Amino acid sequence: MKKAITGALALLFFFACAHVQEHITDKCDVLPAPQSVELTSDHFAFDGDVALEIVAGDDDKRTLTDYLTASPLAFSENGDKSLTLEVAAVEGLTSPEGYRLEATEDNVKVTAQSGAGLFYGVQTILQLLDEKGTIPTGTITDEPQLEYRGLMLDVSRHFFGKEFIKKQIDAIAHFKMNRLHLHLTDAAGWRIEIKKYPRLTQFAAWRSKPLWKDWWFGDRLYAEEGSPEAHGGYYTQDDIREIVKYAADRYITVIPEIEMPAHSEEVLTAYPELSCTHEPYKQADFCVGNEKTYEFLENVLTEVMELFPSEYIHIGGDEAGKASWPSCPLCQKRMKEENLADVNELQSYLIRRIEKFVNSKGRQIIGWDEILDGGLAPNATVMSWRGTEGGLAAVNSGHKAVMTPGGYCYLDSYQDAPHTQPMAFGPYMPLQKVYSYNPTEGLSEEQAKLIYGIQGNLWVEYIPTEELVEYMIYPRILAIAEIGWSNPAERDYDNFKQRAVKAVDALRAKGYDAFDLSKEFGPRKETLSEADHLAKGKTVTYAEKAPFNESYNAGGATALTDGVRGGWTYTDKKWQGFIRGGVDVVIDLGEEKEISSVAADFMQMCIPDVWFPAEVIISASSDSVEFKELTRIEHTVVRDEGLSYKNYGWSGKSNARYIRYQAKSGPQRGWLFTDEIIVE
Ligand code: ACM
Repeated sequence: MKKAITGALALLFFFACAHVQEHITDKCDVLPAPQSVELTSDHFAFDGDVALEIVAGDDDKRTLTDYLTASPLAFSENGDKSLTLEVAAVEGLTSPEGYRLEATEDNVKVTAQSGAGLFYGVQTILQLLDEKGTIPTGTITDEPQLEYRGLMLDVSRHFFGKEFIKKQIDAIAHFKMNRLHLHLTDAAGWRIEIKKYPRLTQFAAWRSKPLWKDWWFGDRLYAEEGSPEAHGGYYTQDDIREIVKYAADRYITVIPEIEMPAHSEEVLTAYPELSCTHEPYKQADFCVGNEKTYEFLENVLTEVMELFPSEYIHIGGDEAGKASWPSCPLCQKRMKEENLADVNELQSYLIRRIEKFVNSKGRQIIGWDEILDGGLAPNATVMSWRGTEGGLAAVNSGHKAVMTPGGYCYLDSYQDAPHTQPMAFGPYMPLQKVYSYNPTEGLSEEQAKLIYGIQGNLWVEYIPTEELVEYMIYPRILAIAEIGWSNPAERDYDNFKQRAVKAVDALRAKGYDAFDLSKEFGPRKETLSEADHLAKGKTVTYAEKAPFNESYNAGGATALTDGVRGGWTYTDKKWQGFIRGGVDVVIDLGEEKEISSVAADFMQMCIPDVWFPAEVIISASSDSVEFKELTRIEHTVVRDEGLSYKNYGWSGKSNARYIRYQAKSGPQRGWLFTDEIIVE
């Protein structure tokens, strides 16, 4: 029954609102944080005495009825109380996905301009629901910041079945995400049935080894479906229809990615006539000169567009080696005929031509940021992954961009201290780092308008199991969800983390293998305070043949004696990188001093070509001319998995003004990274 709001209650309401202005989520744990929350101290109980009323178009009505009937909320036709969902204009909202939730003790009403808005209001109700089946009374007015809030899942490097995909759709929908991008094709396996090209699924979907890393660093052979050596799988067209519908019923659009012109070894082994040399197992890039390539791609895309109703079709476009194009007669002929200056323009020719085809079917293309190289196709949207520059270049030329920069949105990176984690691909990228990303920071209003969305990407080279996929996605995708939805001015990591911990508990209770945030190990302990030592602030001279690399300068010539230690990752701007020449530096202590140790840490991460030194020589001098060797440390550098650290140092007793520290690469060459040369 409705109670009169007494003076005391009104006062309480006033303070609650005042508090809300400090932090929208102090009063509720909803994730992503809503735009505006005004809660009172009463409750609405879903106690079985609630009638469900939906005022919406037929499709939305059916979708929402089915969803709510399967939810933990119980309804009865003749209930005294009601949950009303109504599509209607909502004052003050600009996004069609926004909603207003108004709850009294007798009635909960969600009003939105679309079925999606109603669905998001329902998600808020489900998140507010306590153990007693009640939600607080009050009003929440809410809408997203960004139109596109996505998760990309790579199903090529390892294949995951449709039920697993549906499970992830349930989870991301709960956090108001609205796009699932499936990376369906790549060297490691083609994953979608295409009726016109049966070899794609009879052969190119299967490989000789179950684990990508054994296969990729091994024979890289494909296999006939059903043969004993065949590992992999694919979605039939019925599977795809089922996934697309399941997602649509949760207001998620599934975007298919069909890679071109590169990452296509599997296609070019099944159909070698589409490569420049016509040899199986030799090429990753389609022949861009051959008309057969366009025939193939258009036929494939025709079937793909029949299955996926999404506005966007992702056409890949990343990391083309273009190696065979300069010597391929057909590619060269195409370049001449089309007046193309270089192979980048040749790639751009293919993308533009495919765009024209896709546009002719009423759809749009989206591609990785390499589609900017050689000139962007007129209507294309760019998915910015190599940092944020691609996205910025796109918006500066009037194109839309979905931001997925590797340093913030690549969920295959380590989410905690590497030694506590299963092997991952990229560097240390904890929840806090993901959450720190603001896709519109520093942009003008005009530029920000073209930032269409944000997406978390999970590549699965090193993620062979469903458990690990979930472990890497959750909770970091929650940070992506909140960046995409909530007001950046409200962003506060500690507040978010509290809500994320609760969300993780709820996910784990539902059977998701989410990373347990309460067990987070945290940053490298060396980074917690500045290193104080005899060489701190002293001058470092680099040998001419062994400069630090500008891309990893860590602040320049003072980096190795600035007291700042590197974290778990070489990309954190605290590790200084050296390539080929190794390390050869002399530190001037300013005056002769008694020293008892000289040491530096190095890291090894073989996948991006970062290695331990094979030899370190530490020497001392009083005049910088004559150096006495203090120690020579040899180490057999061997490829390993993961990320590790090694200290190379000397300890003893000596006098020195100048200390020379040399580190040499092993046979692998590649990168050396060190953060500080500590002298005691
Ligand atoms: C990518 O990570 N190659 C898009």
